[in-house]
Amino acid sequence: MNKTSFCVANWKMNKDFNESIFYLEKLKKIDLSENKSNIIICPSYLDLHELVKYKEKIKGIDFGAQNVFSEPKGSFTGEISVSMLESIGCKWVILGHSERRVVLGETDLDIAKKMKLVYESKLNPILCIGESLLEKEQKETSVVLKRQINTAFNSIDFKKNKNILIAYEPVWAIGTGVAASVADITNNIKIIKNIINNIDTKDCNIYLLYGGSVDGNNASNIFSINEVDGFLIGTASLSIESFYKIYRQI
Ligand code: PGA
Repeated sequence: MNKTSFCVANWKMNKDFNESIFYLEKLKKIDLSENKSNIIICPSYLDLHELVKYKEKIKGIDFGAQNVFSEPKGSFTGEISVSMLESIGCKWVILGHSERRVVLGETDLDIAKKMKLVYESKLNPILCIGESLLEKEQKETSVVLKRQINTAFNSIDFKKNKNILIAYEPVWAIGTGVAASVADITNNIKIIKNIINNIDTKDCNIYLLYGGSVDGNNASNIFSINEVDGFLIGTASLSIESFYKIYRQI
């Protein structure tokens, strides 16, 4: 297919340094030349510095962080700043993943602060949004998506041309082995498109991804939805075989 597409691997808190290198060495041996989809690997902060060197070794691959702090610098023990990520050649950063929202208590406002810093930097954001099971059952999905998107973009002036990825990830589909149905994804991605169309994002390129139990069996069906430009993949990105199986379908 000819649309610009992205295959993002979110390794979360998996893979130590040796395992990460082993994975990339395996990826290096695969011929990726036929597929034009962009691969973005998001390893641990610790390994990013060494792994970005693989950009020179594997064509079409890039790297992202799984998070960044909401202040530019200062006394924030244990945190990592936007400029630190820039300085090692990292190009992407995941913002607002549901595990950070739910487990680590990140709010929409924290994510908005991060989004502003990232937008003004050389990094490109991968913003995660999505409703919980309760919100889905209470038919609040569109309200939640609207709040998450509008808050994240609220203080962006959209003067810079940027690639922005928005990953629709229903919380109940993440890591459960049960992806959302094609009908649900189609419907909710349309809602997201409408919300974005009401924001003047000027020359920004906004791409929509789906995430939540994507695997080799459901990838091509989901990717056949017109507005889906790729995937954010957790579990199935951890083995090179299952990741490549998905990648081949987009
Ligand atoms: P999953 O994770 O593919 O394991 O559902 C997706 C994500 O958390 O981004």
